[in-house]
Amino acid sequence: MVKIAPSILSADFANLEAELKALEESGADMVHLDVMDGHFVPNLTFGAPVIKKLRPHTSLPFDVHLMVTNPEAMLEAMADAGADIITVHAETAPHLDRLLDEIRELGCKAGVSLNPSTPEEVLNYVLEKIDQILIMSVNPGFGGQSFIESQLEKIQRVKELIAGRDIEIEVDGGINPSTAKSCIEAGADILVAGTSVFRGEGDYQENMDALR
Ligand code: DX5
Ligand code: ZN
Repeated sequence: MVKIAPSILSADFANLEAELKALEESGADMVHLDVMDGHFVPNLTFGAPVIKKLRPHTSLPFDVHLMVTNPEAMLEAMADAGADIITVHAETAPHLDRLLDEIRELGCKAGVSLNPSTPEEVLNYVLEKIDQILIMSVNPGFGGQSFIESQLEKIQRVKELIAGRDIEIEVDGGINPSTAKSCIEAGADILVAGTSVFRGEGDYQENMDALR
């Protein structure tokens, strides 16, 4: 069964404690935390201090997605804040191999994310150091964008590249019941969803079931 990682980017930022509780009660598999720096992506969200304050309020794993130009500088703070998985963008990491080592040395799972235009070949020589691959199906920066269809082929290619290794494929951006189905068929293990989880009357379980 595919895992659902709701992105709190679409949650009520004034009420995050309650939102985390609601996610937990609704059967979310993890919490996706979008860290944006206003440089790598145009938007600005939150950093380690906020994540640290959220940590005691749920036992769900924290899946931290770093959309920042210098991820190296904040790895330690993220691990200290309670991140379980730290994902860095390949585009921001000229020394990706070393960065992945550092994430694991901090006791976290290591993820690599690829923008829609970034070819999957960049993963070739670091596969043994990766626990999760995050395929962006929108250009990162904002919630509520439309799914980019070309990424379905990338999911399939990444699945082949992994060749049975213990690496999960996560897809992020524009996930709704229809695109979720296509992603699952292409090989996705985890779906990140903001808009389609945090909508309607607040019945997150129904929204997540629709994606599964
Ligand atoms: C986009 C973020 C996503 C975003 C997804 O840059 O990485 O996690 O919150 O939002 P939706 O599901 O609304 O596309
Ligand atoms: Zn994300």
